[in-house]
Amino acid sequence: MVPAGPRPATTRTDATQILGALPIPVVMLDADNRFLFVNHAAEQFLSMSASQLALHRLGDLLPEDNPIFLLLSQVRQGDVTVTDHDLALESPRLDKHGITVHGTPVADLPGAVLLTLQDASGVRALDRQLSFRSAARSVTGMAAILAHEVKNPLSGIRGAAQLLETSTSEADRELCVLIRDEADRIRALVDRMEIFSEKPIDRGAVNIHRVLEHVRRLAQSGFAAHIRFTELYDPSLPPVWGNRDQLVQVLLNLVKNAAEAITDDGNQNGEIVLSTAYQHGMRLTVPGSRARLDLPLLVMVRDNGPGIPDDLRLHLFEPFVTSKSSGSGLGLALVAKIVGDHGGLIELNSRPGRTEFRLHLPVISDGDGDGGY
Ligand SMILES: Nc1ncnc2c1ncn2[C@@H]1O[C@H](COP(=O)(O)OP(=O)(O)O)[C@@H](O)[C@H]1O
Ligand SMILES: [Mg+2]
Repeated sequence: MVPAGPRPATTRTDATQILGALPIPVVMLDADNRFLFVNHAAEQFLSMSASQLALHRLGDLLPEDNPIFLLLSQVRQGDVTVTDHDLALESPRLDKHGITVHGTPVADLPGAVLLTLQDASGVRALDRQLSFRSAARSVTGMAAILAHEVKNPLSGIRGAAQLLETSTSEADRELCVLIRDEADRIRALVDRMEIFSEKPIDRGAVNIHRVLEHVRRLAQSGFAAHIRFTELYDPSLPPVWGNRDQLVQVLLNLVKNAAEAITDDGNQNGEIVLSTAYQHGMRLTVPGSRARLDLPLLVMVRDNGPGIPDDLRLHLFEPFVTSKSSGSGLGLALVAKIVGDHGGLIELNSRPGRTEFRLHLPVISDGDGDGGY
């Protein structure tokens, strides 16, 4: 808010007016969490007038174990902007859920923090992520049913057909072979579904760049031989807290889809970009607990194919959703399941010529290695 350069675009008063007029609740707290400034939207959000709020601290409005206080201390200690999604601001006078909070240090006021508080509409995309997870969970249930209820009778059918095959006429033998082959096809499908079943994941420190390298090499020696790869890696990235083989599966599926989209489109100038970055302050509530999970690791797979068809988008991560004549529609369902099991998130941005899947993954933190996160 300090005017810069010879012709300042704003003065301090202007900046206050601009903040005042913003439809998003904005508050500024001093080092003791006293309200230095609130805009009109924040007065409404907190159900208190600016003059009343000026007499209070944030701790008067919210219990001290609210995660917003952790966010504030992280902003102050790290002198960085921190974003927290899906916060609940609950107290006898406040009842707000699904709030996205951005906290930013204020340059010329030590300890002061500028907070914006956005309600659910801003995190709709995130809600969709969570529903992707539940889609994956429903597959888990189905996988278990299939394994138990379909595989056994199926092997009976197959065995019976095989027996008949030896004792029947030439014409009927063909039918027996048909029964056997179709039974094998169902079995293969059930086997494929079994990777969805609920198993605890075996985690360790995974170098995501090695995983990406491996996937790129596999792709280039096979299905993506004709496609140019570009790698943009942040070499200072810490290891992912995850399962190496499952992460290979995730990235292989994303790269395979990207290559297929490019190829099916007849694009002679196909390009797949693999990149990684460290992103501060991407956090999420662990379902069923009050713990907050840090997801600072960003892995992106981008292609210049035709983009995801509109009618697929909403259900993209559900099983059996495919636009390919011989597609299984299980690739992205598996991706969603594995990323969900890792406590991560997947986001999608797609338009013609640019489709990007973004994975947010957890890094190793203190206490990992003994089973929890
Ligand atoms: N990078 C991409 N570009 C365009 N469409 C994509 C991309 N990734 C996935 N899709 C679409 O999503 C559908 C589902 O993908 P997936 O679950 O892997 O199943 P499958 O590859 O067997 O069709 C694909 O059929 C395709 O229509
Ligand atoms: Mg696929």
